[in-house]
Amino acid sequence: ARPLASATSTPLAAAAADARNVKVWLEVAMRRAIVAEFGEEYRDVDPLVTPATKAAFGDYQCNAAMSLGKRVGKPPRDVAVRLVAAAQLADVCEAPEIAGPGFLNLRVREDALASRLAVALADPVRLALPLKRAQRIVVDYSSPNIAKEMHVGHLRSTVIGDALARLLELQGHLVVRLNHVGDWGTQFGMLITYLREVAPAALETTGGAARLDGLGISDLVSFYKQAKKRFDEDEVFQSASRAAVVALQAGDPACLAAWRGLCEKSRAEFGLIYQTLGVDERLTERGESFYNGGLEEVVRRLDEAGVLVTSEGARVVFPEGAQPGADAQAGPPPLIVVKSDGGYMYSTTDLAAIVHRATEEKAERVLYVTDAGQSLHFAQVFAAARRAHLVPDGVSLEHVPFGLVLGEDGKKFKTRSGDTVRLADLLAEAVRIARDDLLARQAERQAAAGPSAADNADPAEQIDVDALASTIGISAVKYADLSLNRNSNYKFSYAKMLALTGNTAPYMLYAYARIAGIQRKARAGTRESAPRATGAVRILLGTPEEKALAMHLVRLAEVVDQVEHDLLPHRLCDYAFELSGKFNQFYESCPVNGAPSAELRESRIALCTVTAHTLRLVLAILGIPTLDKL
Ligand code: ARG
Repeated sequence: ARPLASATSTPLAAAAADARNVKVWLEVAMRRAIVAEFGEEYRDVDPLVTPATKAAFGDYQCNAAMSLGKRVGKPPRDVAVRLVAAAQLADVCEAPEIAGPGFLNLRVREDALASRLAVALADPVRLALPLKRAQRIVVDYSSPNIAKEMHVGHLRSTVIGDALARLLELQGHLVVRLNHVGDWGTQFGMLITYLREVAPAALETTGGAARLDGLGISDLVSFYKQAKKRFDEDEVFQSASRAAVVALQAGDPACLAAWRGLCEKSRAEFGLIYQTLGVDERLTERGESFYNGGLEEVVRRLDEAGVLVTSEGARVVFPEGAQPGADAQAGPPPLIVVKSDGGYMYSTTDLAAIVHRATEEKAERVLYVTDAGQSLHFAQVFAAARRAHLVPDGVSLEHVPFGLVLGEDGKKFKTRSGDTVRLADLLAEAVRIARDDLLARQAERQAAAGPSAADNADPAEQIDVDALASTIGISAVKYADLSLNRNSNYKFSYAKMLALTGNTAPYMLYAYARIAGIQRKARAGTRESAPRATGAVRILLGTPEEKALAMHLVRLAEVVDQVEHDLLPHRLCDYAFELSGKFNQFYESCPVNGAPSAELRESRIALCTVTAHTLRLVLAILGIPTLDKL
């Protein structure tokens, strides 16, 4: 475990941390007011602080007076008056206004925003990322299967898991990224037996692993299909396959070498995709096979805890309270832990993995990023782990589900022939379309500029179309996935994700480049005319647009904290999109270089700088690289 040096627990540090998140600060202040005015027994009352629904109402509102009024039997407006008198909000807010039946409208003070922006100007990360107690967090994501193609579900898991890991790590948590690849199980018996039959030469071994020369993943996938067919039709093949699994699990060198060869082949293919996607290199492969040694113990512990039942020859865990043999319609099927033939299951491995993560990794929080189709699996596995006390109660186990990727026809995303879409093909297609778009726009511009413009173009200004197309294409795929609530299904559409308008990666990339450009130019101008002491900028928020932009910048802490808990990365996309809108409104109505005073000009340049840095930070969390020029 790493020392928790950055996560000091002195009251001062905690207060400073809370102060960055204005919403949390207000909640604390309102809760204090409630207790001071109505007594300890009201400590549990939710202060109901929310962002204001209309700018005219201020920045936040507190709606506690209504429910509190009911509880104390007083008119909400009277309660509101007492809360206003008791609340010590002056450090952050103007005097609250009472509206309607008892809403408190809260307006954040200009100097409170300005002081927070000054922090962000020095280091945008500090505003975003409150200090708090660091946790050890395991994020289980990507997790494709050996000898199979990665599909769009794995793309979602990879992109979402990587973003969440980055966010948590930036907050100061110690994150362990685990790739729980499907590298174990009966399919390997079939595959090895089939390879022995049709491609024995491929099983020649170097360094303990079969070379599988000349075979690609797609060959292995079709071999697996054929092997499965043989397995179902041919008894001799079936028993040979079963024997191969047993031999593999017993450590037979030939079977192990074949298995290693299959793993290496897949690993190389996954690696290419990870590279293209820019997945964090610390994503560590720790597949199902890793937990093989822990399976027996898990079964023993479940048994000792009395949660295992024998049902039709299998050893299973029934949902708590449900009885074997009871009405089968009544609830979900039991969790099978040991099959009737003695084999272990996907769930058995997950139970062993939970034990390892809690005891060896010392994880306090474990996140599983997989499709929503596995919700029941995880609910049952977590419940069984709790009942058998496989993990300390304080360890939080969380399934982070996501919906399906659909084709334009609204059905599961498939190729025209009904096959799984290869991720490599999908990404290449996005890059190809991005490139075509870029070239078309370039041609349009040149046509508009007239025939001689192309000859006079500055070669240094020429952009690398291929590099740009690949950044835009890949970012578009990732951003499209991240920008929607992960719980819903979405229709995969190249046209939509590559559009220049709307909440898309291309829009955000251009918005960033523009803002960064404005900021750079303005700064360069300052340096020439009047060098100034750094860190001495006074941020002025005299216009509604400046204030709105500042308020939104300060809200980053709120959004980041929220995503830490609800693990919904689309909030960051919404935030970034709104930020660029707020910036545009500011830039339209507040001249920067033409500001009426040098002081105001400095302040506006600072706003541009914090906006550019904040946008870059948010996109970086999402795994989207930014470019200064496009
Ligand atoms: N390999 C599985 C799949 O492709 C995902 C594994 C997720 N992680 C876990 N611990 N079960 O769906």
